[in-house]
Parts: sequence; C-alpha cells; structure tokens
Amino acid sequence: MSGLVLAPSILAADYACLGEQVREAEEAGAAWFHVDVMDGHFVPNLSIGIPVLESLKAVSDSFMDVHLMIDNPEVFLEPFTAAGADLITIHQEVATHLHRDIHEIRRLGCKVGVALNPSTPPETLREMLPAIDLVLCMTVNPGFGGQAFIPEVLDKVTRVREMQAQMGIDSLHVQVDGGIGAGNALRAARAGADVLVAGSSVFRGAGSVGDNYRGILRALAIEV
Ligand code: DX5
Ligand code: ZN
Repeated sequence: MSGLVLAPSILAADYACLGEQVREAEEAGAAWFHVDVMDGHFVPNLSIGIPVLESLKAVSDSFMDVHLMIDNPEVFLEPFTAAGADLITIHQEVATHLHRDIHEIRRLGCKVGVALNPSTPPETLREMLPAIDLVLCMTVNPGFGGQAFIPEVLDKVTRVREMQAQMGIDSLHVQVDGGIGAGNALRAARAGADVLVAGSSVFRGAGSVGDNYRGILRALAIEV
C-alpha cells in the first residue's frame, strides 16, 4: 500500500534523549511525528507542551503533528503555531465553536485536524469535512500511551472514507492513534487509515527504535 505514513508518537520516547530517538526514527524512514499535548483536565494526564516542540523543531525538519488533548484549545493555537506545528488537531468534543477554530488554525498557516474519541460518531464532522485536512479516529481513550487498541473504531475509519467519497472530497487524511503496532497496522490501513500513529510499539518495543519502526513498515508491506 502506498501513501501510508507511520508517525511515531513521542509520548512514549525517552525524554532524556528525545533528539537522539527522533533522529533514530528518522534514519529508519520517519518524516512525520505526533506530539501529544495533555492538560490534566480534558484527559486525566499531563504531558509536554510548547518548549519541547520548539526544541524538536530546532533539531528536526520532520512534519510535526500536534494533537491537543486540552480544553479551550483556541487559547493555544497561536503559541503552538509559533513553536513550529505543521498540523494542529483539536478534539471535536471540546471545541464549542469548531468552525471558528478550524478557520483560525488555517489562518495561522497550519494544516487542520479534528479528533474523535472512540465514542464520538464521525457524522458529527460532516459539515466540517471539506474544511479540514485530517480526521483523527482515536483507537484508545485519549490520555495515556500503551493502552489496548479498540478494534470497533476501524468501522468508523471506513465510515469517514465513505462520507469523503459521497461528498466528493479529493484529499483527506484519516489517522488512527492508540495501540497501533506491527500486529494491527495493516488492518487499520485496509480500513482506510493512511496516517498511523505509533508510540509504545516504536519507542518501547523489543528492539531499537529504528528496528521497531522498520518492523511496523514491514508489517505494512512497505519496502525498507
Ligand atoms: C493517547 C495519545 C496517543 C499515544 C499513543 O492519548 O493520543 O498518541 O501516544 O500511544 P501508543 O501507541 O502507545 O498507544
Ligand atoms: Zn495522540
């Protein structure tokens, strides 16, 4: 399958040597990284924020996809753009004025994603689908790395692709995030996902970061 992106989620990386781990993944072929931002409010956990993204951008030319798992995301759109985000994803469940936020992200010069929790139907995004670049279908409940993949979400991935086709939308990324590894990546891709986020399976797998990354590419039948 071509056009697939395997995006390491740095949430599972060793922050004492983050730059090195990112470089190792890049040497194995990664060019898109997923940056998880949590506020301890929308999700019951804290993670990283603006300074870490700035440091990463200083050492990497890769595409940085910022997944905001925070309430009031509109407050942080400009700071994350200034820190170097290439794409910002906000959650459908917290954005009261989703239309406004989508257009603000676009105005700031970033690509736009909207995330759906496992329990949120994709039809809630229908009106906004032509205006966005990516739909993130969470395959775990957001908040923690290393959780078990929820297979029912793959049906939602397929429904997003059906909606895209019905509406005649040419280009749209569908991202899956949570519990993705060599054992289920191909299944997610066959359901219609083209951006696969993988945290623990890349940074905490059995081998080196590079070997783990290449192992998932092989499972996707991508030449390495
Ligand atoms: C979960 C995060 C994910 C997480 C995925 O709330 O949004 O991006 O890093 O981690 P794994 O791949 O370990 O499930
Ligand atoms: Zn994420």
